[in-house]
Amino acid sequence: MNVLITGGAGFIGSHTAKEIKRRGFGAAAVDNLKMGHREAVRWGPFVECGIHETRRLREAIRDFNAGAVIHLAADANARESVEIPRHYYDTNVAGTLSVLDAMLSENVTTLVFASSCSIYGNLKGVAIEKDPPLPISPYGETKLFCEKVLRSYEKAYGLRWMAMRYFNVAGADPEGEIGEDHEPEAHIIPRVILNCLGVHPPVEVLGGNHGTDDGTAIRDYVHVSDVARANSIALQHLMNGGACEPVNIGSGIATSVRQIIRAVERETGTQARTIDKPAHSGDPNWIVSDITRARELLGWVPRDSSLPRIVETAHSWFRARTGAAEAAYASQISR
Ligand SMILES: NC(=O)c1ccc[n+]([C@@H]2O[C@H](COP(=O)([O-])OP(=O)(O)OC[C@H]3O[C@@H](n4cnc5c(N)ncnc54)[C@H](O)[C@@H]3O)[C@@H](O)[C@H]2O)c1
Repeated sequence: MNVLITGGAGFIGSHTAKEIKRRGFGAAAVDNLKMGHREAVRWGPFVECGIHETRRLREAIRDFNAGAVIHLAADANARESVEIPRHYYDTNVAGTLSVLDAMLSENVTTLVFASSCSIYGNLKGVAIEKDPPLPISPYGETKLFCEKVLRSYEKAYGLRWMAMRYFNVAGADPEGEIGEDHEPEAHIIPRVILNCLGVHPPVEVLGGNHGTDDGTAIRDYVHVSDVARANSIALQHLMNGGACEPVNIGSGIATSVRQIIRAVERETGTQARTIDKPAHSGDPNWIVSDITRARELLGWVPRDSSLPRIVETAHSWFRARTGAAEAAYASQISR
């Protein structure tokens, strides 16, 4: 079967395409390259197009004879969504409706959807799928709304769906072929690594007032290869007639910002330059997953999501890229 991956030139999309291909499916990528990269599409055809272009999505589904969609394209910065909510509702909600229109018009009814831990908001304990979601950002609201759309479409149009509630996705392809490449980079692990490699300014450490052991925010980091594997297992689960549900895709491990900095310093052998700043009022103190349901329903467990493994794979990706950029610059000035 062939699978259309929206956001297929992005971080999770490119790793998912590689995994989908490894499992013997065809993988085509649709992306407007706003944050993604053409060179990250290496495992199948590429269609440069926005997810609002329903007609072009329909053509892509037809041309590629796609039997399922993995919908990852989105704007994904919770903090930015507070400043420009309209943009987020447009891309993440209207864009998802357009993807669903294209699918249903072409009689494609199998969808793996990128949801987010942002739907949980501020938690007291670990996040469990049956907890009432209480998003505290427009970004989280868009993901929750889309999950509601999927449930309604299941009843009305027979949509078969899984909503993958990813926690903080990090790391890079262990074979070094692809990795994270955002501009600007909002994620903490790449920022600390790039700082240690000498190509990123001092990293702001927000906290001191989070009420956690070292004062900084606690998150749950999950390796992008584990996420890619979860996406393809979810697809197979739907094709086998499995239940349509949301599932947490995390490591279940609580990690503070200061623990990340120490792990990166150990891996790179360099001290990170940091600046302490107060936490943003909208940032949750603590978000950690309970991944029991993903194990029960999909038989999925993370394999590469220990902090040292995440940092090691991300470091080797960024070191190779930084080295290549320096070499290109050096050859330019020597000419
Ligand atoms: N990375 C994480 O930690 C994380 C956590 C939770 C949820 N998610 C979700 O996972 C999905 C993928 O995230 P990612 O980290 O790979 O982000 P990413 O920015 O690397 O990938 C998203 C891709 O979508 C593309 N895109 C954006 N708007 C588009 C549009 N209108 N039309 C077509 N393409 C468009 C971008 O160019 C990019 O390549 C997103 O839906 C995000 O909300 C990510």
